[in-house]
Amino acid sequence: MPGYAVALVARVFSGIQPSGALHLGNLLGAVRNWVEDQHTDDSIFCVVDLHALTVPQDPATLRTATVQLSQLLMASGLDPAICTLFVQSHVPEHAELSWLMECTVSFGELRRMTQFKDKSDRSEFVSAALFTYPALMAADILLYDTDRVPVGDDQRQHLELARDIAGRFNGRYGDTFVVPEAAIPRAGARVMDLQNPTAKMSKSLESPLGTVYVLDELRDIERKIKRAVTDTDGEVRYDPSNKPGVSNLLSILAACTGRSPEEAAAGYSQYGPLKADTAEAVVETLRPIQSRYSELADDPAESARLLAIGAERAREVAGPVLDRARAAVGLLPR
Ligand code: AMP
Ligand code: TRP
Repeated sequence: MPGYAVALVARVFSGIQPSGALHLGNLLGAVRNWVEDQHTDDSIFCVVDLHALTVPQDPATLRTATVQLSQLLMASGLDPAICTLFVQSHVPEHAELSWLMECTVSFGELRRMTQFKDKSDRSEFVSAALFTYPALMAADILLYDTDRVPVGDDQRQHLELARDIAGRFNGRYGDTFVVPEAAIPRAGARVMDLQNPTAKMSKSLESPLGTVYVLDELRDIERKIKRAVTDTDGEVRYDPSNKPGVSNLLSILAACTGRSPEEAAAGYSQYGPLKADTAEAVVETLRPIQSRYSELADDPAESARLLAIGAERAREVAGPVLDRARAAVGLLPR
């Protein structure tokens, strides 16, 4: 018998960092799937402010970004009445379980993380926490008896490590944690940079015209899409390896209109109309999100109240799981 209760509904957990502004890739590749998941699964979503601190942050910027991302998630459809939405640092169990995770993961395992190698190569100051970051991520996931973790491909290695940590902990101390599965997003969810369509759309500042931010002015969004890089052969077809720019527009159009990219391609013989329709579909997807966001932003006390309720609900789950782990390793009850 496992030490945990076996639930009938799957528990889903995911996290997103409050660093940089939310972009169309985040929305179509991650957040939209979460919005769907909340209706069928017991869903918990976390704004991971402690993870953001692994690289130097300006305090005022971090504060603003945490509030803004939380409000944007609500505006995008995460409904605090249906799912549990909270800020990581409001639930102290995360930092505490992270210590037990650090004591369970090996230095060698952490050293193999490719994201650490990339980020540490690019930074002047490399914090110890940037190195141990996957231990905190494992704590996030394992604290909620999570069955499924919807994340992008870039997080697959961290998730594998969380599974290994859970397995090792259970092996050493007896069944304590549920071993989670990765849920890599559905097709069409990878949004590429509009100016450099072989690279993922990201919040890097190198390509301001390549990234559509959820809070961009609607006319700038239209402009960015109309200036998207295509190719010279003039044919509209979904073929990501030979026609990355056109295929990216098709997958964006498809994601915004609930079709497959191949279906979206039908009926176009020129790039102009494809760009115009893609721009319109993105604008119509983002318009209601922007208007809900501005209502939420006008009433910060209300979103703070909702986040406090989320944190309280999260602690009701996380508290007993942390106690289980503390007891398993031999810490005295408090
Ligand atoms: P990040 O902005 O890298 O912290 O990612 C937050 C979430 O958005 C993760 O689940 C990513 O996998 C997802 N994501 C980020 N960029 C893209 C993109 N260009 N296309 C699809 N999903 C993305
Ligand atoms: N590391 C993830 C990212 O950078 C964010 C994250 C933190 C996360 N904790 C998590 C994602 C737990 C899924 C589950 O995108």
